[in-house]
Amino acid sequence: MSILKDKNILLGITAGIAAYKSAHVVRLFIKAGANVKVVMTPASKDFITPLTLSTLSKNPVYSSFTDEEDDNEVWNNHVDLGLWADVFVIAPATANTMAKMANGVCDNILLATYLSAKCPVYFAPAMDLDMYKHQSTKASFKKLTAYGNKLIPAGTGELASGLVGEGRMAEPEAIVKFIENDILVQLPLYGKRVLITAGPTYEALDPVRFIGNHSSGKMGFEIAKAASNLGAEVVLVTGPTHQKIENHLVAVKPVVSAEEMYKEVHKHFKSSHIAILSAAVADYRPKNVADQKIKKKDTTFTIELEKTKDILKSLGEIKTNQFLVGFALETNNELEHAKGKLKAKNLDLIVLNSLRDKGAGFGVSTNKVTFITANNTIIENELKSKANVAKDLMELILKQTHA
Ligand code: CTP
Repeated sequence: MSILKDKNILLGITAGIAAYKSAHVVRLFIKAGANVKVVMTPASKDFITPLTLSTLSKNPVYSSFTDEEDDNEVWNNHVDLGLWADVFVIAPATANTMAKMANGVCDNILLATYLSAKCPVYFAPAMDLDMYKHQSTKASFKKLTAYGNKLIPAGTGELASGLVGEGRMAEPEAIVKFIENDILVQLPLYGKRVLITAGPTYEALDPVRFIGNHSSGKMGFEIAKAASNLGAEVVLVTGPTHQKIENHLVAVKPVVSAEEMYKEVHKHFKSSHIAILSAAVADYRPKNVADQKIKKKDTTFTIELEKTKDILKSLGEIKTNQFLVGFALETNNELEHAKGKLKAKNLDLIVLNSLRDKGAGFGVSTNKVTFITANNTIIENELKSKANVAKDLMELILKQTHA
C-alpha cells in the first residue's frame, strides 16, 4: 500500500509538451489509491484533453473560473479546490507558470488555486535546456523553494526541440516516488522499527488436530496499519488468520505455534524500537505431539499440557531501550490484574480489554480498551472500531516515547 492511499491529490497541468505524460501521472496516483482532481491552464488543453484526464481521474477537470459549457455559468471554486487537496502537484510546470507563481500573478484557475492552497506544493519543471538554464528560471526556482514549494528536478535527455540536455520533466514514476518519499520522511515514526504480534497460536496435538483460540488477528493487523501510516517499518509476526495486509512498510511473518512465535519475535526484538504484543498466545500446549492421527478408543481421553514460553515476559527481561506494550484480556478485577502484568512483565504500557464490555474482544471489529502506563496513568476509552483503537494506541506511544 502506498503512503498516498486515500490522499486527495490535485494535479496542476500547464502548457508544455510533457503534458502528454500527465495522463500517466494521474493513472499512477489512482493506482496508489489516491483521490485525484485535475486543474489545467487553458493553454495546456492544446497538449492533452480534459476528457482524457477526467476519465482517468474519475472527476471533473477544471480549466476556467466558470463552467463554459453550462448556460448557468457555474463558478469553479478555486478556494474549495485548494482546501480539498492534501497535496498539490504541478507537472509539467512551465517557465511561464513558475514565474507567475513566484510573483503572485493569478490570471487563471490553476494560479488562483495555487494561491489558495494550504497543502504542500510540488512542481516538476519541463522546458527546453536554454530556458531551464536561464537566470529568470533559476530565480523562479529560488523564490518558489524559498516559499516552501518542493522542486522535483527535471532530468537530462532528448528534448522535444531535438536538443539534448537538462529540462525533461521527471518521469511519472519518479514524480510519484519523489512525493511518496518526501511524505514518508516527514512522518513521526520514519526510521523506527515496530514489532507486532497478532492472531492466535495453534498447538498441535497430532498431524490433524490442534488447540487454538478464536482470536481473529484484527487488532494486531490494525496496529500494523496504524504504525506504518506513521512511517514505521513494521514486522508483523502473526499466527493463523484470514487478515491481509499489503504495504511495503509491513513485513508479515506467519507462524503457527507459540514456540515459533517466540523464535520469530526474538529474531527481530533487538533491532526494534517499539514492540506491541497483541497476539492471543496459547499458555499451554500438548506435552506430547503424536506422529500419527490419534485413533478413538476409550470414552474419555486426557491430554497432558505443558506451559508455553511467555513471549512478552521474555522481552521484558531483556529489553534495553525498546518501548514494550502488552495486552491483557480480563474477566474480573481487571485493573488490578492488568497493573500486575504491567509490573511483572516489565512493560511500558498495557492495553486492557475486559470481556465484560460488550463489543470488546475476539472476532468483532470494535474494542473497548483502557490504557495503563508504567507510571500508572489510566486512560479509559469509549467503544471504538479496532482501527481507531490502533490509532489511539500509536498516538499514545508517540507521546510516551517523544518520537
Ligand atoms: N503473551 C505472550 N506469550 C504468552 C502468553 C501471553 O507474549 N505465552 C502476551 C500476550 O500477547 C499479551 C499478554 O501476554 O500481550 C497478556 O496475555 P494474557 O494471556 O492475558 O496474560 P497471561 O500473562 O498469560 O496471564 P493469564 O492468562 O493468567 O491471565
